[in-house]
Parts: sequence; C-alpha cells; structure tokens
Amino acid sequence: MEVIIARELTKKYPGGITGLDGLTVKINQGEMVGILGPSGAGKTTFFRLLTGVITPSEGELTVLGRPIGRITNRALSRLRSRMGVVYQHHNVIPAMSVARNVLMGLLGQVSLIKALRMLFHLTKDEKAAVEEVLARLDLSDKLYSRCDELSGGQQQRVAVARALLADPELILADEPIASVDPRTAQLILDQFLRLNREKGKTVVLNLHQVDFALKYCTRLLVLRQGKLVYDGDAAGFKETHIYNQGFALDSVEDIDILEPVKGGACCEQW
Ligand SMILES: Nc1ncnc2c1ncn2[C@@H]1O[C@H](COP(=O)(O)OP(=O)(O)O)[C@@H](O)[C@H]1O
Ligand SMILES: [Mg+2]
Repeated sequence: MEVIIARELTKKYPGGITGLDGLTVKINQGEMVGILGPSGAGKTTFFRLLTGVITPSEGELTVLGRPIGRITNRALSRLRSRMGVVYQHHNVIPAMSVARNVLMGLLGQVSLIKALRMLFHLTKDEKAAVEEVLARLDLSDKLYSRCDELSGGQQQRVAVARALLADPELILADEPIASVDPRTAQLILDQFLRLNREKGKTVVLNLHQVDFALKYCTRLLVLRQGKLVYDGDAAGFKETHIYNQGFALDSVEDIDILEPVKGGACCEQW
C-alpha cells in the first residue's frame, strides 16, 4: 500500500521562490526513507506539504489515502492524528513536565474531555505507556521534570517520545538530529528503526547527515534546488555517488548530482 503519492508536486512561495519543483514519488508502507539535500533543497517544504501546513501550488499529494490539496480542516486533524511528527527545532512546551508534553501526543486521538482529564490524572495504563516510551529514549528519570530544565538533546527526545506515544502509522521527522549530540542522534534513530522493523511503520526522515542516512535508511531521496536528483537504495547511492567520487563525504553539500530523475524505480509503471 502506498502511504505517500506525490505527482509533479510543486510549491512556489510568494515572491516567486520555488520550494519544490515537480516532485514525483511514491513511498510504500513499511519503507524507511531518508531525504537528503543541501540547505534550501526543499526538504522542509516537502515535509510541510506532507503535514498539510502549506498547500501545493501545482501537482497532487496523497498521504495515507487522503488527497491533501482540498482537504477540510477536520479531515486534516484526523489525518495528522495518524502521523507522528518531529520538527527540526525543539518543540516542547518548556514550562510543562516531560510526562505532560509526551501526553500531548495523544490529544488528536482522544475527546476533549478525556484530554483534559489526562492533564490532571493518568490511569495506570496511560502512565505505563508514557513510562515505556520514555524508557526507550533513556528519559526514565525525567518523567516529572520540567522541560526547560532539560538539555537540548533531552528535549528533542521528549519530542520524539510524544510523536511515538500515539502509535502513528507514518512517522515524519524534519532533521530530527540536526542539533543533538551523536549519542542522542543514535538513540532517536534507533527508535525510528525499531518501529519500522518491528511494527512495519513507514518512516520518512529529512536528514543532513549522509552517514546516518546510509546507516539507517534503506531508500534515499536526494533533492537539489527543489528537484529530485536521486531515488534509490542507500547501498546504490553509496556505490555510485560516494565511493566513485573518491573522497569521504561529510555533508550533503558535497553531493554532486545535478541531473533530475523522473520518479524512481517504484514509479516506472507511471
Ligand atoms: N516561507 C517561505 N517563503 C519564501 N521562501 C521560502 C519559504 N520557505 C522556504 N522557502 C525557500 O524555498 C526553498 C526551499 O526551502 P526549504 O524547503 O526550507 O529547504 P531545506 O529544508 O531543504 O533547507 C529555499 O529557497 C527557501 O529559501
Ligand atoms: Mg529544512
């Protein structure tokens, strides 16, 4: 089943800047996809289109079976409750406890009354679920700490815990490890990988670090100036675009592919 279908997806910002330029791609259920590209390549634009924060200028986008272009606000909220979303910059509420921040991840899935109750009282099962997800992110001792008492890396792990609590079908993360130390990066990516391997969840990560993308993702999409310049497996990318260049690739800025590709292997039938 296709979780994401983009056809000729284009976003032009006011002022004529093109954020994304004719992206055609399909992502199937259970894939772990890394999106690489230098600054300004269109990674965040694609992410914001996927989460419905912005709408396409041209082309079509379907996420979890819902066309995004003409979606109502209500349908968009329902759709978002099926996604676990992590942003680049820490997105926790500083003055709230870790536990409450994590619980916010369930707000889209429960009634308002239940949500209000949960802010004041947790059932045994709810507490166990929060404890489990925090343990996986090595935050067991921080359950009742205020988020503003945590380091940046710990706050980002809280944001990941929140995204994972609701057992989302699709995990979308925009440079989730951009501003954390390598150990935290590994902890976070290990959780995404576990959900992908053990539960078959679809994971799409915008990444700036080529080494992490190669290690964790099976499929890579590379964007450059809003265009798709590589769509294929990570091993093939390493072979053709890294080894052959004869130098250690530290950053996506070094990736030297300029020719846009039309769709990927999965889109040959189009
Ligand atoms: N809100 C916006 N208004 C105008 N231009 C934007 C806006 N957001 C992004 N852009 C432009 O769109 C292009 C793609 O940006 P972005 O998607 O943020 O790239 P990336 O996440 O890969 O760094 C860049 O040229 C950027 O300057
Ligand atoms: Mg970005």
